[in-house]
Amino acid sequence: HGTSKINAKGNLEIGGVDTVCLAKEFGTPLYVYDVAHIKKMAKLYQQSFISNNTYGKIAYASKAFSCVAMIQLIDELNLYLDVVSGGELYTALLAGFPPEKIHFHGSNKSRDEIGMAVKAGIGCFVVDNFTEIQLLRDAAHLYNKKLTILLRVTPGVLAYTHKYISTGGEDSKFGFDLNNGSALAALREVLKEEQFHVLGFHCHIGSQIFDSSEFVQAIQKLFSLCDQSYDKCQFYPKVLNVGGGFGIRYTDSDIPKSPSEYIDEICRTVAGEVQKREMPMPEIWIEPGRSLVGNAGTTLYSIGSSKDIEGCRRYIAVDGGMNDNLRPALYSAKYEGAIANKMNQQPIDQFTVAGKCCESGDMLIWDLSLPEINYGDILAVFSTGAYGYSMANNYNRFTRPAVVFVEDGEAELVVRRETYEDVVRYDLSRVSSK
Ligand code: LLP
Repeated sequence: HGTSKINAKGNLEIGGVDTVCLAKEFGTPLYVYDVAHIKKMAKLYQQSFISNNTYGKIAYASKAFSCVAMIQLIDELNLYLDVVSGGELYTALLAGFPPEKIHFHGSNKSRDEIGMAVKAGIGCFVVDNFTEIQLLRDAAHLYNKKLTILLRVTPGVLAYTHKYISTGGEDSKFGFDLNNGSALAALREVLKEEQFHVLGFHCHIGSQIFDSSEFVQAIQKLFSLCDQSYDKCQFYPKVLNVGGGFGIRYTDSDIPKSPSEYIDEICRTVAGEVQKREMPMPEIWIEPGRSLVGNAGTTLYSIGSSKDIEGCRRYIAVDGGMNDNLRPALYSAKYEGAIANKMNQQPIDQFTVAGKCCESGDMLIWDLSLPEINYGDILAVFSTGAYGYSMANNYNRFTRPAVVFVEDGEAELVVRRETYEDVVRYDLSRVSSK
């Protein structure tokens, strides 16, 4: 995984930093991000567009992991940014991210969120539904601004992934439907509005996708919309945004393609469809979240209690769980792990890693081969960089972990650990009691 290796002490090292020292210095649970890996992935996407001679825009889907330092890193890497809420937008603006490079998503943007984004001068609204068109029209007139927009369409392509993260099928809460004429009706409506600058179409078929043919199918659906839009409105898109969802490896059974394999296929498909129609080549935009940060993150836990059920199972409990990684409980997601302070020791048995929450479903990894376990050992769980911290919660009033960035032998705290004071920060005492 990224720059990780085993050092002379037999400890796991990431970005040139000993993770056992990180656990001592910053405490556990702790999210550790390998900055070099994020940089590498960003470059791979950028290079892929260059080698396809295609103008591409890469917007990091900040829902995967957002904090001020992460957004600043995205800016350093010359990427664009996708936000889906007032909170993600606020974080981006606080980080000093250029507003014109922000794209705003969401299937139920509020009037306040839209007002905030319009005032900030964000670069593009990805419009999801008819209510939003009206809200955007109101805001454009109220603030006297011209808004750049893409229409999000539901391509009717069912990505083969967990149903909670498959978004492109026909029965989806997201976007305008292609097959019943909604997308075309929406296009007619937005083209009529002088305050809108309509760039093109967007679709996102789902997440953790391995099969690039699903992108090909979605692109073909977008081109069927292009035919209709040209026919009925003399409109050809300047931009096609094919969303995110590029899969990563969590365990050996995941076999993703490389960024260049996905991008080559996407560019080739778009170019082919363009040629058939003799239309101008649109820009291709993508929105990777997981694939930029997923494999860059590792969570460190301390091992506490353990329980052996003779002939059945050996449990070890860690000081985190579904609070800091909801994915196993929510999607039956699988992870790999190792004992960071015993990397050279041979496995002796299989252990099931239990989280700390009062919830039987709070299991992080089933049947993980590990060496002899002692109280206080550090368990590293790999590939937790996407949708880990961003979906963390305070169930059982546990505090959310800290986040550190590591690179070239140095560690930098980028999100501090929550305290009990933070946990009760919003609580108010009763004023009167009977
Ligand atoms: N663009 C749109 C419109 C999206 O809805 C998403 C993810 C992305 C881009 C980024 O997808 P990615 O490249 O990260 O797969 N919490 C779930 C994932 C939900 C994804 C929601 N949308 C998980 O932990 O697997």
